[in-house]
Amino acid sequence: MNRKTVGGGELSYMDQGNGRPLLLIHGFPFDHTMWREQMHGLADRFRVIAPDLRGFGKSPAVVEPMTMDRYADELAELLDALKVDEPVVYIGLSMGGYIGWQFYHRHRDRVARMVMCDTRAANDSEDAVRQRYDAAERVLIHGVEELVEMMEPKLLSVRTVNDKPDLVEALRAQMMEADPVGVASALRGMAERTDFTPHLKEIERPVLLMCGVDDVITPPSEMETIAAQLPKGEFVSIENAGHLAPLENPAVVNSTIRTWLS
Ligand code: MLT
Repeated sequence: MNRKTVGGGELSYMDQGNGRPLLLIHGFPFDHTMWREQMHGLADRFRVIAPDLRGFGKSPAVVEPMTMDRYADELAELLDALKVDEPVVYIGLSMGGYIGWQFYHRHRDRVARMVMCDTRAANDSEDAVRQRYDAAERVLIHGVEELVEMMEPKLLSVRTVNDKPDLVEALRAQMMEADPVGVASALRGMAERTDFTPHLKEIERPVLLMCGVDDVITPPSEMETIAAQLPKGEFVSIENAGHLAPLENPAVVNSTIRTWLS
């Protein structure tokens, strides 16, 4: 992995291939390896840049909340450091999507198109905000296991769980390795985010929304509603997938991205 110093410290990233730049932003509480199938499947035609967000993978955490704005600004700084002048195709999953809305809002000249996977535009309900702060405190005291136990049953489709035990195992191991400090600052940052729905109509770039048909965290119906509010939104559902469609059904996700970008 490569490293650059941006924002609050070093940021680690993969940078593979040549061509139009794709910026791949992982979900919570994962790291850039969540995109391994896309790095493998798309780097023949595109420059694929996949960072570890601050506090995940090999990018050291900060204690204060990582707001979606702050993650977005660090990504813009990373692109500066990599001398990527051409507008990127921003591809984000779930929390990577929350960051994507802010990335567009704050750095729109850097965005050519967006692919938003298994995500939402709305902020958290009051209840969800309370749960995030509570989870952040518990993670800092007891570690990530309780959070992993809570998230795990909702992440994957039944079919993935039955057919891909290695993937289930690898995901669990990755989540268990997450740094509690990074996890807590992401939880607090997600709790602080505001509703992006009123701004959807301002997004002038084409946006592809992809969602696993069995996603119970950010369901397809919610993403279809987002697509309808975007001036250039298009919705595609991904069969045999839950919340982590790019990992669960990479062949369909990759070919959908290729076709949409061709
Ligand atoms: C994610 O996959 O990034 C999380 O489900 C986002 C969230 O907790 O809202």
